[in-house]
Amino acid sequence: MPATVHPLSPAIGAEIRGLDISRPLTAQDLAVVRQAWLDHCVLLFRGQSLDPDQQRAFVLQFGPLGGRKKRIEPDGYKRETGPDYNSDAMLVSNIREGGKPIGVLPDGEMWFHHDMSYSPTPNRASFLYSIEVPSHGGDTMFSSMYAAYDNLPARLKARVEGRTVLQAFDELQDRRIDLTARALDSVPHCFQPMVLKHPETHKRAIYVSRLMSHHVEGLSPRESEDLLEELFAYTEDPAIRYTHVWKPGDLLMWDNLCSTHARTDFPKEERRLMRRYTIAGEPVIPAWDAQTAAE
Ligand code: OGA
Ligand code: MN
Repeated sequence: MPATVHPLSPAIGAEIRGLDISRPLTAQDLAVVRQAWLDHCVLLFRGQSLDPDQQRAFVLQFGPLGGRKKRIEPDGYKRETGPDYNSDAMLVSNIREGGKPIGVLPDGEMWFHHDMSYSPTPNRASFLYSIEVPSHGGDTMFSSMYAAYDNLPARLKARVEGRTVLQAFDELQDRRIDLTARALDSVPHCFQPMVLKHPETHKRAIYVSRLMSHHVEGLSPRESEDLLEELFAYTEDPAIRYTHVWKPGDLLMWDNLCSTHARTDFPKEERRLMRRYTIAGEPVIPAWDAQTAAE
């Protein structure tokens, strides 16, 4: 039976049914999945059983793996070991061994963000697979950045046109880092366009988030904060959101160029274990260059 596509909300997300993704996809199924991914930005596959190598093999059907720097603590402690892990994976987990988390992004709520927007070549996509989930909370929310851009009033579209914003992040923080208290060079950072052109759909998407976006180039600190706050009313609008309530065996793949995501809080004492791979991306294409080129 071929794969079927079932939208999860009006603005973003679709579930793909009828596939066992632990095995290579047929060319026909891969084409269905790729098109659904371009159409819906976020795809869900339920009831999967994936070891690390099978998950990596699935991901590789969509592009080359994205790199990441592994964190080594000052005392030499390395996160991420064990049977749920292989060297290309990232574990997202609050589970602790000897008092230290075995994964990154361990606890609680995370604000909306695009993965790696602080890098000049952010990973194109992330593939998160759930192994253990808490009894409640720890939901992942996705927001369509196409819809957010389309919903902006003309005044705000004009305000962001041609502008860049400083993106910066420390993966051990779940809030925006305070750049008045930290040296910029101590954290990964770069300037990115506030609106991008998607390389395949050629549509415009907002590229700004509460977790990672800092200063808007050319504005005073006050003007910059005010503009970002105005934009967040659109990027975080519940009307353009899909909230995923995890069950073990779910795999979500999302496009980091046209969606942002956030995590809701969950009980500290309960275990949450997810395994993530990414595929590599290209430098972000500003929307305005794209327009000039298209005209
Ligand atoms: C991520 C991420 C959210 C979650 O892996 O990039 O943001 O729900 N995870 O754990
Ligand atoms: Mn993320």
